This record gives sequence, structure tokens and C-alpha cells, in this order.
Amino acid sequence: MNFKNNFSFLLLIITSNLFWSCETKKENEKQNQNEKNMTTITDIHTFAKPNESIMTHISLDLKVNFEEKTLSGKAIIDIKNTENAKEFWFDSKFLQIEKITLDENETTTTFKINEAKPHVGAGVQVNIKPETKKINVYYKTDKSAAALQWLSPSQTAGKKNPFLFTQSQAILARSWVPCQDSPGIRFTYSAKITVPKGLMALMSAENPEKISENGVYQFKMTQKIPAYLLALSVGELSYKKYDERSGVYAEPIMLEKSYKEFEDLPTMITAAEELYGKYAWEKYDVLLLPPSFPFGGMENPRLTFATPTILAGDKSLTSLIAHELAHSWSGNLVTNATWDDFWLNEGFTVYFERRIMEKIKGKSYSKMLGFLGYQDLQKTLNELKDKPKDTHLKLDLKDRDPDDGVTEIAYEKGYFFLRTIEELVGREKMDNFIKNYFQKNAFQSMNTESFIEYLQKNLPETSKMDLKEWIYAPNLPKNCPKVSADRFENIDKELAKFKENKEENIAKDISSHEWLYFIRGLGDKLTLTQMENLDKKYQFTASNNAEILTAWLGLSIRSEYKKAYPKLESFLNEVGRRKFLMPLYTSLLKSNQKELAKQIYQKSRQNYHAVATSSLDELFK
Ligand code: BES
Ligand code: ZN
Repeated sequence: MNFKNNFSFLLLIITSNLFWSCETKKENEKQNQNEKNMTTITDIHTFAKPNESIMTHISLDLKVNFEEKTLSGKAIIDIKNTENAKEFWFDSKFLQIEKITLDENETTTTFKINEAKPHVGAGVQVNIKPETKKINVYYKTDKSAAALQWLSPSQTAGKKNPFLFTQSQAILARSWVPCQDSPGIRFTYSAKITVPKGLMALMSAENPEKISENGVYQFKMTQKIPAYLLALSVGELSYKKYDERSGVYAEPIMLEKSYKEFEDLPTMITAAEELYGKYAWEKYDVLLLPPSFPFGGMENPRLTFATPTILAGDKSLTSLIAHELAHSWSGNLVTNATWDDFWLNEGFTVYFERRIMEKIKGKSYSKMLGFLGYQDLQKTLNELKDKPKDTHLKLDLKDRDPDDGVTEIAYEKGYFFLRTIEELVGREKMDNFIKNYFQKNAFQSMNTESFIEYLQKNLPETSKMDLKEWIYAPNLPKNCPKVSADRFENIDKELAKFKENKEENIAKDISSHEWLYFIRGLGDKLTLTQMENLDKKYQFTASNNAEILTAWLGLSIRSEYKKAYPKLESFLNEVGRRKFLMPLYTSLLKSNQKELAKQIYQKSRQNYHAVATSSLDELFK
């Protein structure tokens, strides 16, 4: 070996080491920064005391028991205890904890499950030693575990096998995993999940593509995530990929239909990357769930959970996938530090979602989304007239369920706040700002105050805006951008004819957004003849598009158009998506059809997830 080669070899070692240590240093700095943030930001919805001892990894070994409807086994929590704390605190919502031991040698210890409080559950206090590294929790989930929905075969598309899925956001992870359940605390995880033979298990992690023979699945998630992004689903599932990084999981009989509907997925990922930087999570797959899934979508890392109500057959509702994909940056990379800062997750995501849709469908398309969003926002502002504080972007959810903060305020007021900034500084600066924001704060949490500080530093022009009014005041500031959508202008003309009792005529091939705008514009209540005529002409009651159908069924209830009621009943019985259930049951209750509402709810309640029933029970009180 000559000197030159030797030298370059040495140089290689030195530089690669340097590079490596630089990278790890950066990662560590980020982690430390995040932990420093946590010492100043308090999350009122957790019992964890991250300033004393914080979890860094969890390793699960769980058996899925469909007969008992339980998950049971062991969780090993790795902790970092820089303060030599004598206690480790984690969250639990009715977990049945059998025993807790410490470290690999399973030293016995004592622990205390404190009294359960509404919404947040109970804090569990484990006695540890300053040198304790691992906490072993032997446990079983409770029948009431709110994150879990256990479906019988009849509630699935295939009708042959049972199904299970979790929904951890906002603070339900604690009902199936013992953990520090705060969006500001991040950890990696691994899992061994045992399921009945013939079923597949999937998580928000590296996932299998085939059903395992022995029913045992191993998972690894090497990127740090907050607890609300822990997810598991078990069922008879199959996979079809678009390319090396994206594909669809669905029950076999739903696979082809889902695959077709979400065909634009690879294009969406590329569009998102062109806007705000590289996709950071290696894979992006979508799991199509049974209709009882309480949300439209949930951004579980690497595996978005999605409702089948977006299978319209014409890709017209796939902006929802763009939304969940956008969360891979806004939310999953840069995470709201507490649920009071929820708008940081959702407002950014709606903004990003509309930018993706603009890129792939054009401006006139994304403008429709913005216009409908503005209508949703106005409706919500009106509903929250007596609760002005709930219309602030920065929320105060003390002693409340974080679920109370899930309104259009976070989504649409958040969106319009960002639109206002865009219009002030221009697109180019805005896009640079957002891209850097995601990059610099990746794998960290952010609260409203630290965001405003970051904003003022990086976009000083925003000092011209009344930021305080946007963040800490009710309603919408006057400088909110005006919305317009050229594709709705035609609909407006037809609506004007309708209102003058003249014959309107809508082209059959318009998008579902235009239909929605049309139905919303018809008025609050119509005559039976009007309803019948419209239905005959456009077949709304027979629509396969859940958004159109919900708008139409709402109008049908208010107009007491009984011909639509059988469809209303079957829809409410099958679909568990809260966004559709709430307005329909609300309309029924308001229009003096309490008995019918009660009757349908009584029959259908068993088909809904706890997230939906807790909102609906409140409505029926
Ligand atoms: N992360 C939310 C769903 C969520 C929020 C669950 C808060 C629990 C608590 C998800 O990204 C979402 O916003 N879903 C919307 C989609 C829509 C805005 C495109 C939904 O489910 O309707
Ligand atoms: Zn969202």
C-alpha cells in the first residue's frame, strides 16, 4: 500500500467519522433542543413529568385476542433519567396493569395507579432508581379501551373475518399502550404482535406485505414519533404497490377499487416534495378501513388510515389523501407541542393539502376547496357564537377533552391565517419559509408562541399583521383574504334560476365539489315538490358520493323529504365517520324528529367507534 492510498484511506476514515459525528451531534442537539422546549412548555393533558424522566423507546409484545377483545402482554419502556429522579410517570386510561418490574433482570418495584380523571385517565407512578434504564409493564387492555374498535366479520367488507383498528389521536394511545402520551414527547418503537392465523397486522412502522404463516409480526419504527401516532390494525388484508415507496392495503375485495381511486398517490408525493422538501418517512402507504372508521383519514406515519367513504369511483375525494400525506411534514415532522396548539398541525396541513391539489389539478380546482372551506368556517363561527374563546387559534383546553378542539377553527381559520401571510409576503418567500420551517424543526415540537417567534424572525414583514388578533382573538380578522372560485360562478347562475322558480340545469359531469356547492346553495329547507324534482333530475338519494349524499340527506331531513329516509337510515347504520354523523343527527334532533333519531342511533351505536359515540352521546343528552 503506498502512502497516497494510505493517506486517502485515513482521510476517508477521518472525514466519514467527522460526518457521522456531525450528523449524530445534529440529531442529539435536536433532541436536546426538543427536551429543552419541553421544560418550558407544559402539556395539561398528560401525567408524564418529562423534565424528570422521559421515555425514549418502547418495545411491545402483544397478543390480539378477538374473543376477549383485548390486547395483552408486555411493554418495555426505555427511559432517560438525567435528573436522577426516583419516579417515572406515565399515562393510562383503564389499562389493567398486572405487574411492573425494572430493567433486564426484572427487579421488583412498587407503583401506584392514581385516581382516574375525566378525559385524561390516570397517572401511573413507578418507583425507580437513578440508574434504572427499563421499565417492564405487564398489562391487558380494558373492554372500554377507547382507542380500539373491534369489528365482527359482518362489519367488514369481506364478512368472513374480524377486524381491529386503533385511533390514538388525541389522547387515546394511553388506552392501549402504557406511555407518556404527550405530543411533545417522542420515542422510537418496536413490536411483536401475535394475531389469529390468516390475518395481517399493520402498524405505523415498517410493514409486511404478506400474511404471515404463524400469525406473528415483527415491527420496527426507528424514527421518533409522539404517542398519538402509534397505530395498529389487524384484519384480512392484502397489499398492492404503485412503486417502491407507496401502495394500498385493503381487504381483498376492496383492493382493486381502492388501488384505482388512489392512483394519483405517487404524483401527490412528488408534488409535495417539490413544494416543501424530501418525504422523510421512507414509505407512504394507505390502509383502507371498514366504514366505521370515525375519521376521514388519520396520518399514522408510513401508513395513513382512511375511510372507505372517499371511494367515490372518480377520485373526486382524494384531496383527503393529500391532506394526510401533507401531515407527513406538518404534524408528523413538526408537531404541535400541546393540544392547545392543534391549529399548527391542521392549519398548516390544510394549506399544504390545497397547494398539492393546486399543483396536480390546477388553481380553479384548489379554489373550490378554499371556497367550501370558507363556508365551513362561517358555519362553525356561527355555531360557536356563544363560545368565542373556542374560535381562537390558540385554544385553552384546560379540564376539557382535546377532542373539543377538533373544529374548523384549527383547520380553516388556521388555513386562512397562512393564506394571509402568503398574500403579504408573496408565494416565493412563503414557500421558502415553510420549507425551512419543516427542515429546521424536523422531529421536534412547536407551540404557538415559539411559532410566532420563528415567524417574526424569518418573515419580518409579518410585523405588519395583527398577529395577536389572529391568534388570541375570536372570529376572523378583517384582513382575511376574500375567497372566490370561478368554477362556482356557473352554479351561482343556476341557483339564481332555481330561486326564481325557473328551470335550472346543471351539467351532469361536474365535480363533486360543484355538486356540494349547489346543494348547499339550495337553501335551508325546500318544498316536497322541489325535493322530488331535484331528486328525479339528479338522483341525489342514490349518490355514491358520501359528501354529496350527506349534504342532500341533511336537506332532506330539514325538508322532511321522507323518500330519502330509508337511505338515511342505512347510511347512518353503516358509516361511522363523525363528520357525517354529527350534522345528520343534529338536523334530525333539531327538526323535531327526535324519536327517529333515537331509534336509528340505538340500532347503529354498536357500529360506531368510541370517538364517535362520545360526541353523539353528548348530543343525545
Ligand atoms: N389528524 C386528523 C384526524 C384527527 C384530529 C383525529 C384530531 C383525532 C383528533 C386528520 O388528519 C384529519 O384532519 N382528518 C380529516 C380529513 C380532512 C380534513 C381532509 C377528517 O377525518 O375528516
Ligand atoms: Zn389533519
